[in-house]
Amino acid sequence: MPAKDNVQIAPAEGKLGILIPGIGAVSTTFIAGVEAIKRGLGLPVGSLTQLATIRLGKRTDARSPMIKDFVPLAGLDDLVFGGWDIYEDTAYESAVNARVLEPSLLSQLQEPLSAIRPMKAVFDPEYIRRINGPNVKTKGTKMDKAQALIDDIEQFRESSGASRLVMIWCGSTEVFHRPAAVHQTLATFEAGLCKNDPEIAPSQIYAYAALKSGVPFANGAPNLTTDTPALLDLAKDRNIPICGKDFKTGQTFMKTLLAPGFKARMLGINGWFSTNILGNRDGEVLEDPGSFKTKEETKLSVLDQILQPKLYPDLYANLYHAVRINYYPPRGDSKEGWDNIDIFGWLGYPMQIKIDFLCRDSILAAPLVLDLVLFLDLAQRSGMRGIQEWLSFYFKAPMTAPGLYPEHDVFIQLMKLKNTLRWMRNEELITHLGLEYYD
Ligand SMILES: NC(=O)c1ccc[n+]([C@@H]2O[C@H](COP(=O)([O-])OP(=O)(O)OC[C@H]3O[C@@H](n4cnc5c(N)ncnc54)[C@H](O)[C@@H]3O)[C@@H](O)[C@H]2O)c1
Repeated sequence: MPAKDNVQIAPAEGKLGILIPGIGAVSTTFIAGVEAIKRGLGLPVGSLTQLATIRLGKRTDARSPMIKDFVPLAGLDDLVFGGWDIYEDTAYESAVNARVLEPSLLSQLQEPLSAIRPMKAVFDPEYIRRINGPNVKTKGTKMDKAQALIDDIEQFRESSGASRLVMIWCGSTEVFHRPAAVHQTLATFEAGLCKNDPEIAPSQIYAYAALKSGVPFANGAPNLTTDTPALLDLAKDRNIPICGKDFKTGQTFMKTLLAPGFKARMLGINGWFSTNILGNRDGEVLEDPGSFKTKEETKLSVLDQILQPKLYPDLYANLYHAVRINYYPPRGDSKEGWDNIDIFGWLGYPMQIKIDFLCRDSILAAPLVLDLVLFLDLAQRSGMRGIQEWLSFYFKAPMTAPGLYPEHDVFIQLMKLKNTLRWMRNEELITHLGLEYYD
């Protein structure tokens, strides 16, 4: 066994508090799922931290421990939950409204879910236009609201008895904004909070409050949020890990599975048309052109970066890529995503591939939330700070160091994730070279 870890990993002692802005479909499916799994009512399907193994050493060594036995992660029994929402519904009521999980399952979890009452949200109807609710902080400047969130965090820390906290944004998608002057440094950002600068989004106020409180932050939506110099610097200065953006679940997950395959075989692509219908609250918010634009940006960037049309102009320079999302209430959370892919092969002969993915958005997202909070907590205990690129595996628009293009290929992302865990524990990195087997 290797002598010493590359990083000092503090043990996962005590409770891990998970703070969630947005007690909606994804977060309640996640919380209800954890409570169900704890009671033996279901399996954590889709979660690497709960189900995956990691190969160590040579293929002939037969060492493949579970990830959760290889690195010290918080156990499901140690998780406690809190959050904020613009609606007063408890997590139980919100889960019932979301209609993702069966009422017969939810009724068995009524007690723990009803105990989660959302704290008053920091909300701005300029950033999320289709919904509005009564459970919001109304007094003071954006800085006062940040302070109120910091107070909420401290109160939760005390009342829950958590020894460590992680925050994960599961709120609605905010309208599209580029980084502005106010986001350039921490000083301009803090001055902007005091002056109610309209360029500061609610999600950034939560992220600021988290980072000021020493709490790691993950962003499950495509909003800008921590992807600004001011908040990146704050995370680095305070030695706090962050990651984002936008859970990679349905259609984009499929894209990042297939596109690397076409490119690996040097097959060309002329067009990729993706359309979705969904009828949950997320779909309703995404009907707003501003919120859709934020989503469209993350969904579109994926193919360009995987296919590298500049390196392969004959195969991908003329690719026409479009993404549509339509709100269609009858489907609720059961989204349908169609892809029509026009590919071409030898001598340019055309072929078509059709995908019809009848998926369940929140069922796909919940295990990602679990893995992200457990891995972010691990990163925090390991002294890792700033952007955690090894968690790109979970995101449509992975955050990277400035100037670095993100890696979208899901298999490269998985290798990066597992190699990071091997590196942490000072195990040999796996390159798949394999020449040693033939010496
Ligand atoms: N489900 C997926 O597969 C998936 C994939 C990628 C990204 N996402 C993103 O995850 C987020 C959550 O998705 P969902 O299906 O749970 O949506 P949802 O609408 O069910 O839940 C979002 C909740 O956030 C609340 N909210 C909005 N602004 C808030 C604020 N400022 N403070 C506190 N709460 C606020 C809303 O009231 C709502 O209850 C969305 O942004 C969605 O785009 C979901």
